[in-house]
Amino acid sequence: MSFLSDTIARIQPSPTIAVTTLAGELKAAGRDVIGLGAGEPDFDTPQNIKDAGVRAIAEGKTKYTAPDGIIELKQAICAKLKRDNGLDYVPSQVSVSGGGKQVLFNALVATLNEGDEVVIPAPYWVSYPDMVLLAGGTPVVAEASVQTNYKLTADQLEAAITDKTKWLIFNSPSNPTGAGYSWEELKALTDVLMRHPHVWVMTDDMYEHLAYDDFEFCTPAQVEPRLYDRTLTVNGVSKAYAMTGWRIGYAAGPEHLIKGMRKVQSQSTSNPCTISQWAAVEALNGTQDFIAENNVIFKRRRDLVVEMLNGAEGVSCPVPEGAFYVYPSVAGCIGKTSPAGVLIENDEVFATALLEETGVAVVFGAAFGLSPNFRVSYATSDENLKEACSRIQKFCAALT
Ligand SMILES: Cc1ncc(COP(=O)(O)O)c(C=O)c1O
Repeated sequence: MSFLSDTIARIQPSPTIAVTTLAGELKAAGRDVIGLGAGEPDFDTPQNIKDAGVRAIAEGKTKYTAPDGIIELKQAICAKLKRDNGLDYVPSQVSVSGGGKQVLFNALVATLNEGDEVVIPAPYWVSYPDMVLLAGGTPVVAEASVQTNYKLTADQLEAAITDKTKWLIFNSPSNPTGAGYSWEELKALTDVLMRHPHVWVMTDDMYEHLAYDDFEFCTPAQVEPRLYDRTLTVNGVSKAYAMTGWRIGYAAGPEHLIKGMRKVQSQSTSNPCTISQWAAVEALNGTQDFIAENNVIFKRRRDLVVEMLNGAEGVSCPVPEGAFYVYPSVAGCIGKTSPAGVLIENDEVFATALLEETGVAVVFGAAFGLSPNFRVSYATSDENLKEACSRIQKFCAALT
């Protein structure tokens, strides 16, 4: 009998972190590896935000804070939600944690009982199903299809809801596909939720600011104000402000839920890093100009990668609205054999052969619940992307 719990046996380590680690190990061993696995911007944290962190240290803001965040940050979050999303919240409806990941985890731990179901549209961010399992709930995967650019339809959502459904986890723009829901597409989903008053929505708006062309971001409580009392709006500073290592995420929602989340956090990690909280105040209240500047670069890279991947034999890649990921299908490569003699049975074999034979690290689609695909993170230099995509093209052309 294992010393470890049954719960821990039910979950997987994060495959995205595993790919990044393996690529790092191969690199350290002298292999020429290009990593397209990491889910973080390659930009540095803006100087004004770093300065705010340094100032916090110099001013001795280095002690415990209230478990779910300082009032100044909660006020900045309320101002942001009003400014960007037209949503009215007060600080007692806000919780700050060590990254968006902890916010989501706290919310699930605070609300799930055994047997409670959580609808997760696939392709999904790898952590959602495992977090639900850790919190004692049951993930129910609702598969979107490539025909709708990986966006869930109203019928698909309707079919996934049962009497036991507690939450829908919604994520737009999405990790791993970059797909962003338009107002109409989201309204079709919120209409379904209006017919099921026992279902709440946990919306993960982490990639809100990373949107290209004329895509306009919207969030459930904005599209359907009657959902306000059963919506948890989750966001953070990791992606748009290039602050992944600072570990600050936040959520706004009904006060009784926020209180429950605070209880979880107060008995586990306590407050998120005090210095990082002060830096996040500056991120939200300070200049936002660099976001648009970074987006010009991200959009250029997206276009480059989509074009080159569509030029690879057997690969087809939709153009996503946001985030910094693309999610090409490799349906045309399955069943073929690689130059080293590997039969490409599925997307995991494809990704492993690609890494071993060309040194390009991507994450296989099965990890995100929809195959056969792989995820590319284009948060790396144009040179790296060109070289990696050209290796992918050569690899695919050499499949027989
Ligand atoms: C969709 C999504 N939600 C949440 C997170 C977690 O972000 P954080 O680094 O703030 O914990 C990520 C990070 O990769 C993500 O892709």
